[in-house]
Amino acid sequence: MRICVIGCGYVGLVTGACLAEAGHEVICNDIDGARIAALQAGRVPIYEPHLNSVLESARGAGQLTFTSDAGEAIRAGDAIFICVGTPPKESGEADLSAIDNVARQIAIEARSSKLVVEKSTVPAHTGLQLKRALTAYQRTGDFTFRVASNPEFLREGTAVEDFFHPDRIVVGVDDPMSTEQLREIYRPILERKFHCPIHTPACPPGAAAQFLVTTINSAELIKHASNSFLALKISYANMLSDLCERLGGNIDEVTRAMGMDPRIGPQFLKAGLGFGGFCLPKDIQAFIHVAESAGVDFSMLKETDRVNKQRVDCFLEKTRKALWVLKDKKIALFGLAFKANTDDIRFSPAIDVLGRLLAEGAQICASDPEAIERARPLFPTVNFQRDPYEAVHGADALLIVTEWPEFRQLDWERVAHLMARQLVIDGRNLLDPRTMKQFGFEYHSFGRPE
Ligand code: UGA
Repeated sequence: MRICVIGCGYVGLVTGACLAEAGHEVICNDIDGARIAALQAGRVPIYEPHLNSVLESARGAGQLTFTSDAGEAIRAGDAIFICVGTPPKESGEADLSAIDNVARQIAIEARSSKLVVEKSTVPAHTGLQLKRALTAYQRTGDFTFRVASNPEFLREGTAVEDFFHPDRIVVGVDDPMSTEQLREIYRPILERKFHCPIHTPACPPGAAAQFLVTTINSAELIKHASNSFLALKISYANMLSDLCERLGGNIDEVTRAMGMDPRIGPQFLKAGLGFGGFCLPKDIQAFIHVAESAGVDFSMLKETDRVNKQRVDCFLEKTRKALWVLKDKKIALFGLAFKANTDDIRFSPAIDVLGRLLAEGAQICASDPEAIERARPLFPTVNFQRDPYEAVHGADALLIVTEWPEFRQLDWERVAHLMARQLVIDGRNLLDPRTMKQFGFEYHSFGRPE
């Protein structure tokens, strides 16, 4: 099928590249001409494992092209995936102006009927508004626009794998033709007929993805409901961790046992600095706004957000307690990205910590496997070191703020020798307290006995 993707951010790029790799003819467009030029030249503007190779392979096969001409892209696609940003406004409400702009462009530029798919995360009722906008901006009545919602559940860092091996594909539709068109688009994934960039020679056997057909409103709600629930789970684990510290429990033992109950599940119960990134914090705000507009008191989401915002305070309190005065202390910071396997620093708790330490006069040497170049322009006084051993040289303390597995695998004996004071404050519970003690460190983490 011929597919047009509007918006070449991380969701648009992964969606476009993977659908092309799965055999469709995909044309991608973005309002940012420089981004399109870079993509046309084969440069990928974000770090996402496997994305480079999928883009290269799909472009090489002639399945994937980029254009800065929105009209060309719109006319070429039978289905148009809207993957533009929906950033938060001051109030937390999602800013839908980019969606509105795209609707206008589609209505003006299209010359035939289209299936218009919302892939961007949007509040409930956006589909309804989108349909109205497409009709309102349309110049002739010779063809029709059908609207569907197809929320994405891609995690940064594993987005390509998530695309090819999803648990579920949700399509919110209000007509059978859209269902069939979307089933066709996802057929290679549902039938596992694609060249998998992750697994060679073959994908491990596993349950096929569920293709769930819902109403458009439900599909929109599913996305916000899922991300908000994940956020809620993390904040719950973080409160448990505080309780463990006060009562002498061990958060690892508590969440491990809880997670064995299939009704709870083991994931997203990791205590620490809390959630960041451009999805969970923004989506929870948007969902709070959706609930308020609908007259529903969903205050547990506000509490989830409040708990999360306190995590950085809590971490800094631990740091002050261990280091006493922060001014002029040499602190090594491990992590800048909001989580491992990404270079994304948006709403990153690590960046919050960095900013707060600088405000208190600490001297920071920061290391991150992928995110240094993103952070460097924001913090001219920080010494950035790609090599973590360089970063800890002469440090009074080491703070771990992103859960990169690379940090876990370091030679900790060497780290101990390099540091001026053997003090580690682990904001992601990445390391084992007992092992760290054996290496001679004073070690603090969240919710575990010291
Ligand atoms: C999230 C969702 O997990 C995806 O399903 C969704 O598609 C995506 O948002 C989106 O809306 O586009 P992502 O933002 O990539 O994905 O990150 P997560 O893996 O959800 O992690 C979010 C944050 O929670 C990170 O800062 C991570 O460090 C933190 N976290 C995660 C914890 O603090 N504890 C945990 O147990 C798990």
